[in-house]
Amino acid sequence: MLERLRNRRLAFVGDSIGRNQWESLLCLLSTAVANKSSIYEVNGRPITKHTGFLVFKFADFNCTIEYYRAPFLVLQSRPPAGSAKGVRTTLKLDKMDWGSVKWKGADIIVFNSGHWWNSEKTIREGCYFQESGDVKMNMSIGTAYLKSVDTLLNWISKEVDTNKTQVIFRSFSPVHFRGGDWKSGGSCHLETLPDLSSSPVSQSIMFYPNIFGSVLSKHKNGSSAKTKLELLDVTYMSWKRKDGHASVYYLGPKDGGPAPLRRQDCSHWCLPGVPDSWNELLYAVFLKREYSLAGNSTAANPRSV
Ligand SMILES: *[C@@H]1O[C@H](CO)[C@@H](O)[C@H](O)[C@H]1NC(C)=O
Ligand SMILES: *[C@@H]1O[C@H](CO)[C@@H](O)[C@H](O)[C@H]1NC(C)=O
Ligand SMILES: *[C@@H]1O[C@H](CO)[C@@H](O)[C@H](O)[C@H]1NC(C)=O
Ligand SMILES: *[C@@H]1O[C@H](CO)[C@@H](O)[C@H](O)[C@H]1NC(C)=O
Ligand SMILES: *[C@@H]1O[C@H](CO)[C@@H](O)[C@H](O)[C@H]1NC(C)=O
Repeated sequence: MLERLRNRRLAFVGDSIGRNQWESLLCLLSTAVANKSSIYEVNGRPITKHTGFLVFKFADFNCTIEYYRAPFLVLQSRPPAGSAKGVRTTLKLDKMDWGSVKWKGADIIVFNSGHWWNSEKTIREGCYFQESGDVKMNMSIGTAYLKSVDTLLNWISKEVDTNKTQVIFRSFSPVHFRGGDWKSGGSCHLETLPDLSSSPVSQSIMFYPNIFGSVLSKHKNGSSAKTKLELLDVTYMSWKRKDGHASVYYLGPKDGGPAPLRRQDCSHWCLPGVPDSWNELLYAVFLKREYSLAGNSTAANPRSV
């Protein structure tokens, strides 16, 4: 994969589960490099930094594996003057996150979204939805989320050269809290086996949080030759892995872990673990395009196989 990424940029854009996948890929790729000091963050930032972006370079291959934090993908910033009391920030549903100027030139972009489109991360924090100049006090989160996906798709068709850039959407990564959520005693630490039953995944996971995956599968059905988008659908396979989360074993920058039993992480994944499999699929999606480009112009494409 490193050989094929030579002189290229691969960017993950989204929330901290996107970061989880990015870290997995860094680990997987770095096992193939003997000289670990040839792998470094280009701005010297520690990998524990949780805001903004991180760009790891594999110097021997002149390739970078990048992570941009943009949990909503669209822009979150100050509200317009004169907004109602209680409006602390707004999500501009018709504007992309500022970071988009940085991602758009990458050779591969892997987007994800979903975990932050809930009332806890928006309305309850005083974060409302805005279209052009207007704050829409009553817009539902589901409507806002759908609009953000439209904005993303429009942005891609206008701003991204999809002949150069492979655009991939990673579908929703399920959470497995039992008996509460992350701050009310929900747990997953006694899960030691995957769900081996053949139970179908619940509609609530497949649709609302995964609007991203759902909209894209519709979009793909349309006659959208102008934008080539790909879906990396990990929802169902990951839904089976209730045993794969960090649970109490979170080892953050300050905490030595294990975390208190009442505050478990049942949304991020242990590494090595589930996101490694997503990245194996990502590699397959990447190779598929490489082969199809090679097939289209064998003589002209130096990467042909
Ligand atoms: C390194 O990769 C970047 C793109 O990621 C490219 O612009 C640059 O020309 C490459 N450098 C060399 C020496 O090939
Ligand atoms: C390892 O990589 C670093 C940074 O690219 C380089 O300075 C150093 O010479 C390399 N060491 C070896 C043994 O190749
Ligand atoms: C928003 O909802 C409130 C209460 O449901 C209602 O009184 C108000 O008229 C609505 N505002 C708009 C702009 O629809
Ligand atoms: C992408 O490639 C197609 C077919 O080779 C070509 O028709 C189209 O103009 C290209 N688009 C851009 C933006 O370069
Ligand atoms: C897309 O098309 C396929 C095959 O025609 C169909 O089975 C599937 O249900 C469609 N998906 C959506 C989301 O419309």
